[in-house]
Amino acid sequence: MSYNIAIDGPAGAGKSTIARRVAAEKSFIYVDTGAMYRAIALYLIRKEIRAEDTEAIKQTLSEIEISICYENGEQQVILNGENVSGLIRTEQVGNMASKTSALPCVREKLLELQRTLAREHDVVMDGRDIGTNILPDAQLKVYLTASVDTRARRRYLELREKGQECSLEEIRKDIEQRDYQDMHRKIAPLCQAKDAVFLDSSDLTIDQVVERIRGLCEGKK
Ligand code: DC
Repeated sequence: MSYNIAIDGPAGAGKSTIARRVAAEKSFIYVDTGAMYRAIALYLIRKEIRAEDTEAIKQTLSEIEISICYENGEQQVILNGENVSGLIRTEQVGNMASKTSALPCVREKLLELQRTLAREHDVVMDGRDIGTNILPDAQLKVYLTASVDTRARRRYLELREKGQECSLEEIRKDIEQRDYQDMHRKIAPLCQAKDAVFLDSSDLTIDQVVERIRGLCEGKK
């Protein structure tokens, strides 16, 4: 039986950095489910379909095929045969993904892919509903969060490092809006699974969070 670690939490909590590190340490695969929602969002943006146009989205989903593969240990998202991993990291795609992931038809499309990956491999899977909905039997569930201020500051520094102009206040507003959307949608909203361990990374380094999860895997509370 495969070993599954589910890491859920809001945007900017550090899930992907932490999940990637834990996966590498344990020789598990890292599955970034947000990237799958982003790939669908990218397709819809390219087709100029609005997030509010549920009917058009429903009809368009049958044109979309999402899969993942790994290059040098890094997950690549393939959208209809095209590797879109480098194109999905924009705020526009993130916002579209947050809105369209509220639709049952969009979530249904990705559910089987995510469950199959976890059935066939030892995984660290991160997202919003992994512990609550996708992998209810995961051996370890972590709810990783950080204060809005911390998450906004981290994102701001990350963008500045990439040479992108940005405003801390704008980023903060974006994060708050995304939290609201992800936590208040009707299906599979972001929330802590009953059996998930709550981890606030506001005052912790990446190493400290990884250390904590390492301990949890070894059965320490
Ligand atoms: O983690 P991320 O920022 O790449 O995710 C983008 C959006 O996708 C997020 O705002 C909500 C959605 N998402 C989701 O609904 N369920 C998941 N398991 C992962 C992401």
